[in-house]
Amino acid sequence: MQARPLGDGFFWVGAQDPDRRLFDNLIPLPHGTSYNAWVVRGSEGTVLVDAVEPHFGPVLFERLASIGAEPDFVVSNHAEQDHSGTLPEVMARFPRARLLTTPKGRDLLTLHLDLPVDRIRTVEDGETISLGNRTLEFLHAPWVHWPETMLTYVRELGLLLPCDLFGSHLSTDQPWASRSGLVMEDARRYFATIMMPFTAQIRKHLARLEAWPCQVIAPSHGPVWDHPEDILEAYRYWVDGGPRNKVVIAWVSMHGSTQRMVEHLVDRLLARDVDVEAFNLSAADLGRVAAATVDAATLVLGTPTVLGGAHPTALHAAMVLGALKPRIRHVAVIGSYAWGGRSTDQLAGLVSGLKAEVLDPVQVRGIPRSEDLAALDALAETIARRHADLTLTPKENA
Ligand code: FEO
Repeated sequence: MQARPLGDGFFWVGAQDPDRRLFDNLIPLPHGTSYNAWVVRGSEGTVLVDAVEPHFGPVLFERLASIGAEPDFVVSNHAEQDHSGTLPEVMARFPRARLLTTPKGRDLLTLHLDLPVDRIRTVEDGETISLGNRTLEFLHAPWVHWPETMLTYVRELGLLLPCDLFGSHLSTDQPWASRSGLVMEDARRYFATIMMPFTAQIRKHLARLEAWPCQVIAPSHGPVWDHPEDILEAYRYWVDGGPRNKVVIAWVSMHGSTQRMVEHLVDRLLARDVDVEAFNLSAADLGRVAAATVDAATLVLGTPTVLGGAHPTALHAAMVLGALKPRIRHVAVIGSYAWGGRSTDQLAGLVSGLKAEVLDPVQVRGIPRSEDLAALDALAETIARRHADLTLTPKENA
């Protein structure tokens, strides 16, 4: 396996993982992922930026050997093990190398890995190192995706190496985003499932990055953004552009009553010119649902009552969506029951962190009848009124 040259003294030495289906045993990966690692070679030194999942170590070392790379510095932008797990072996194989990371990065790396502490050098925000004709600048950027994260900027190439930020869980041998058809869809899904809880911090980082002109953005997952404005513009929209006039309905049904309620509500919302994306949680993966919430103004959770409360599938979805923190303004719970239960309170409680207005629920005893459908009509009317100031059209180029 060879290193892949992507620029003047800039090489990809990472690994593709097309068969991985879950990240953190939680986030669905329909298109696999990659662990991107980079070599930057200057006239007076060589740097390895980030590493790979531990079981892909042999791939990393073979690619490094293919260009005779012996790093003087190893940069760890992020301590999570998909980028750091091979660092103990990297440091053992290259005894001359120093490991560069943030102070918090040192804490987390040494918490999770056995590393030679005396060879770790912390870097300050804005600090630079020179490789002769290449200058690396380190920008502390906490919470993309852990508190210790930083971005590395190669000044002479206008090259940003932001680790998780701007990534996409997409395994492809095509290195360039402009030639990877699926990438923006995967980048949005990635934003929703990895970055969305940190929207406030990302907003600040985006503003700061305006002072660092980027010709290329090479994240640690997925293809390289050879037209960086595409992903920067998409992030600006995901962080600041929404929500728009859209409802996401995440539902599960047991015997069809909740499903009939959802179908009726979808019809009534569309009739009021409200955009809708409805997901049967028994079939849809949660990454798709999360991606849809990025610019939705209202979230409707649909569930039957079972075992005295909401269906466990709906509880799981509500818990994850509540933790991902989409900028939802309104939440409603609908569903069918036979003899009571706590579905509404349970689900509303799980998304209470969104600080959204909780609309009146529609709980139906048994199958939905005309008065129940009328209650759903009223819910659709309430949502349409709440959305009156919102636009239908997404502004992203996704
Ligand atoms: Fe790709 Fe936060 O690790």
